Amino acid sequence: MKKAVILAAGKGTRMKSSHPKVVHKVCGKEMVNHVIDASDKAGVDETIVVLGHGIEEVKSILGKDVKTVVQKEQLGTGHAVMMADEYIGDEDTVVVLCGDTPLIVSETLVKFFDYHDCGGYAVTVLTTKVDNPTGYGRVIRDQTGNLLKIVEQKDANEEEKAVNEINSGIYCFNGKYLKESLKKIDNKNAQGEYYLPDSIEIIRMSGGKAGAFLGASIEELMGVNSRIQLSDAEKIMRRRINELHMVNGVTIIDTDSTYIDSDIEIGSDTIIFPGCMISKGSKIGSGCKIGPYASIENSVIGNDTSVKKSEIIDAVVGDETTVGPFAYLRPNANIGNNCKIGDFVEVKNAIFGDGSKASHLSYIGDAEVGKNVNIGCGVVFVNYDGKNKFKSIVKDNAFLGSNSNLVAPLIIEEDTFIATGSTITEDVPNGCLAIARERQVLKAGWVEKKRKRDEEK
Ligand code: UD1
Ligand code: CA
Repeated sequence: MKKAVILAAGKGTRMKSSHPKVVHKVCGKEMVNHVIDASDKAGVDETIVVLGHGIEEVKSILGKDVKTVVQKEQLGTGHAVMMADEYIGDEDTVVVLCGDTPLIVSETLVKFFDYHDCGGYAVTVLTTKVDNPTGYGRVIRDQTGNLLKIVEQKDANEEEKAVNEINSGIYCFNGKYLKESLKKIDNKNAQGEYYLPDSIEIIRMSGGKAGAFLGASIEELMGVNSRIQLSDAEKIMRRRINELHMVNGVTIIDTDSTYIDSDIEIGSDTIIFPGCMISKGSKIGSGCKIGPYASIENSVIGNDTSVKKSEIIDAVVGDETTVGPFAYLRPNANIGNNCKIGDFVEVKNAIFGDGSKASHLSYIGDAEVGKNVNIGCGVVFVNYDGKNKFKSIVKDNAFLGSNSNLVAPLIIEEDTFIATGSTITEDVPNGCLAIARERQVLKAGWVEKKRKRDEEK
């Protein structure tokens, strides 16, 4: 079995955060979950995460089948892997990754695993070349290019420091060799830590073949240790996500102002105008026009729908519907097909049937609105008495005149007509017109009389 051991015990002091480092998000997904998803996609069968700081918080964001072990004290990367010993079998291939390198891509890991498997190696390290290797472990090879060992910055001599091939911190091990070598690692080095890279030399000495695969880009190895690096990683990830959508047939007018989280589906021929934020759990159909300035979170949008300058959260919108400008769809708003939700319309916890329209200035909360219902300008669904919420049901083909109030609980039956300005407090039966307002009174000559009175004062 191919097993991944993901090191995530570190605190991340430089993040200056009360949360453990690896739960910080890049494009809407926790860093450690980016690493897990990339290794899963590359063919890893089982994942073990090594925890140390914020154990419960990290556990709470991990998938159900991810195993965890605890490293109480952070005594080094070798010590961290030792904690996973119980899960490692002699026949396993063990991939070690770090939870704070969210940019690693699965294609690189696939090539790396192939290199390890095909070369018959007991250990393989993924490497890259950089202009400035300061801080990284250096990859030391013999004259013919065979891997000898890795030397940490603080333990390196001048000659070693000049090497610009660096250790990515990602390794493949044969389970048996790994377990044996971990028993022999010591902490007699400049940092007093149990270094995982020391296992390479130990494995070599005990007859195992060690390899170095120069196959990663420096970008994908970027570790996140500070908020500045977090923002850098976000930028790189965002560009990748946008490019993936464009490859899949989505038009993005301005990639610099388009913020799409990881794992979001968008259909082809959808156009994303500038200033949009599409976050976790969202799915957008094909042929849509999104934006400018739309924020869509955890919501599903159908096909050929337009969303302009609006906020949509935990909601569903059907096909060929228009939303906005300036609409606000809140949790459990479920808008049908061919609907119109116009400017300054707020919908919360309401079903809104196919072909229905609320073109301007309405609040629709806790309701079931049927098909082809017309909601006039300024209609308010009065759903709250200060303590409890109540539900309104408005059936098919009802016409709610402008500025009417529906005081819930209420049932407005099919084919009804609510006169403008009505405050409806009782159910309206099928086919009725309901008027609930004062009759108009006309006082002839009243203005003239008032003027005179005012002059006399
Ligand atoms: C490590 C490598 C170095 C490599 C670099 C790549 C060692 C000794 N050195 O150095 O060769 O170039 O990564 O980034 O491994 N961790 C634990 N428990 C521990 C120590 C670390 O879980 O006891 C985790 C950290 O949270 C981090 C990762 O392991 O996610 C790497 O540890 P870190 O101390 O950052 O290693 P580096 O010094 O960067
Ligand atoms: Ca590091």
